[in-house]
Amino acid sequence: MLEGKHIIVGVTGSIAAYKAASLVRGLVKAGAEVRVVMTPLAKQFITPLTMATLSRNPILVEFFNPENGEWNSHVSLGEWADAFVVAPATANTLAKMAAGIADNLLLTTYLSARCPIVIAPAMDLEMYAHPTTQANIATLRALGVEVVEPGDGELASGLSGKGRMAEPEEIVDFLDGVLC
Ligand SMILES: Cc1cc2nc3c(=O)[nH]c(=O)nc-3n(C[C@H](O)[C@H](O)[C@H](O)COP(=O)(O)O)c2cc1C
Repeated sequence: MLEGKHIIVGVTGSIAAYKAASLVRGLVKAGAEVRVVMTPLAKQFITPLTMATLSRNPILVEFFNPENGEWNSHVSLGEWADAFVVAPATANTLAKMAAGIADNLLLTTYLSARCPIVIAPAMDLEMYAHPTTQANIATLRALGVEVVEPGDGELASGLSGKGRMAEPEEIVDFLDGVLC
């Protein structure tokens, strides 16, 4: 049941960030209220304008606005959320989540959130298969983070293997199951 639910979509610097647009669209269509938190790198892959338009809310990236000192409260965001999904989740962000590093708004929000957390990894096959990445995913699972497994197939690099982010519809269905 996604109707009326508050969902944070975290977007990181992966080529699969374009799929986050369809994910947000699908969640809004299902009746959820969506806030998008992007890492600074994610803005290079998909524009905040696209994500703000689809989510019907301003995008959150920085801790504060240097022009006027207004700051984004990761604590309030964490309290607001019924679920937090990081899609796509890069190897870098997974590693930081597993280690408790808090050097951007997405990560501080993750550490503050008390709701179910879902990650949808997206990366090249060797990055995904790397023992460090697998250990980080295992650590996150042990902490209660749910994983929407990446698919096996053609990757942006031209190679083929496991690492393709799950399709947005699959992630919407997964969240529906988590929140029922
Ligand atoms: C074109 C391009 C595509 C990339 N795609 C991915 C990806 O799919 N998955 C991944 O883990 N890293 C990918 N990277 C590397 C990340 O952008 C890099 O590790 C970055 O530090 C991630 O930062 P973030 O996790 O804070 O968003 C890509 C880099 C480039 C230049």
